[in-house]
Amino acid sequence: MTPVDYPLDASRPLGALRLDGRIAVITGAASGIGRGIAQMFAAVGARVVLSDRNAQGLAETARAIGAAAVAHVAELGTKDAAERLAAFAETIGPIDIWVNGAGIGSANAVSEGNEEAYRRTIAINQDAVFWGCSAAARRMEPRGSGSIINISSIAADKGDRKLAAYSMSKAAVNALTRVLANEGGPAGVRVNAVAPGFIVTEMTVPSDLSAAAREARIAQSVKRAPLPIAGYPEDVAHAALYLASDAGRYVTGQVIRVNGGATMIP
Ligand SMILES: NC(=O)c1ccc[n+]([C@@H]2O[C@H](COP(=O)([O-])OP(=O)(O)OC[C@H]3O[C@@H](n4cnc5c(N)ncnc54)[C@H](O)[C@@H]3O)[C@@H](O)[C@H]2O)c1
Repeated sequence: MTPVDYPLDASRPLGALRLDGRIAVITGAASGIGRGIAQMFAAVGARVVLSDRNAQGLAETARAIGAAAVAHVAELGTKDAAERLAAFAETIGPIDIWVNGAGIGSANAVSEGNEEAYRRTIAINQDAVFWGCSAAARRMEPRGSGSIINISSIAADKGDRKLAAYSMSKAAVNALTRVLANEGGPAGVRVNAVAPGFIVTEMTVPSDLSAAAREARIAQSVKRAPLPIAGYPEDVAHAALYLASDAGRYVTGQVIRVNGGATMIP
């Protein structure tokens, strides 16, 4: 068969993006980007296993989704926590998709030497992603399929002041994504990352800010990218859906940047 004879199924152009019957673990699902991904995956047929340390937010996400969602409250960052989450998910069925979305921001100059903030940032943004990847890959590789998606950040590519620990953790996530893509590829496990730019969530625009301060912060973010619009969790969720679904079946080891073009501006 020559390439032009490849049988493209044009009868269901969006069918490859559905996740009917797939089981997806999503961390950081109590809020923001994780919540957006959970809602989108459930809307296209997935059963979603939600995890976060914020029990109230997690319950709200689960309630909004309904019967397709189950929730597991956990402080993530250790092998043990990831294994317990995986074991919980497997009571529903084999895990097809694992999204490492939980994360925190931190802002300290290197010279401050804030050890507590440094360790906390690495523990969730880097360690939790590593152990989540490990728990997922150990289960997916023997089954011969699976998609792992890590939420990275534009910070991995830049050098913004006070973001050393955060930027380091996200650069580590990009490296882990490439290594595990190489390890898991022959077993049919795909591993990719989505690196958002400024996305309107609790992390960037906390709800305790005044309406005027929120607007100002969003307007400021819009100025930092060529596209004259703000980014929302849905924008990240669309990229995650592409990577999770059969639409992304030939894509692994990639970092998809969803940032309005902001990385093109120094
Ligand atoms: N919002 C942005 O502009 C932006 C940009 C780039 C990357 N990101 C990344 O996107 C991901 C989601 O961030 P968001 O903007 O939705 O923020 P968010 O604060 O709305 O959501 C993060 C979630 O992670 C959870 N979490 C944090 N530490 C945890 C832990 N130890 N165990 C379990 N859960 C924990 C929080 O409770 C929260 O629900 C993070 O990895 C963040 O670094 C966000």
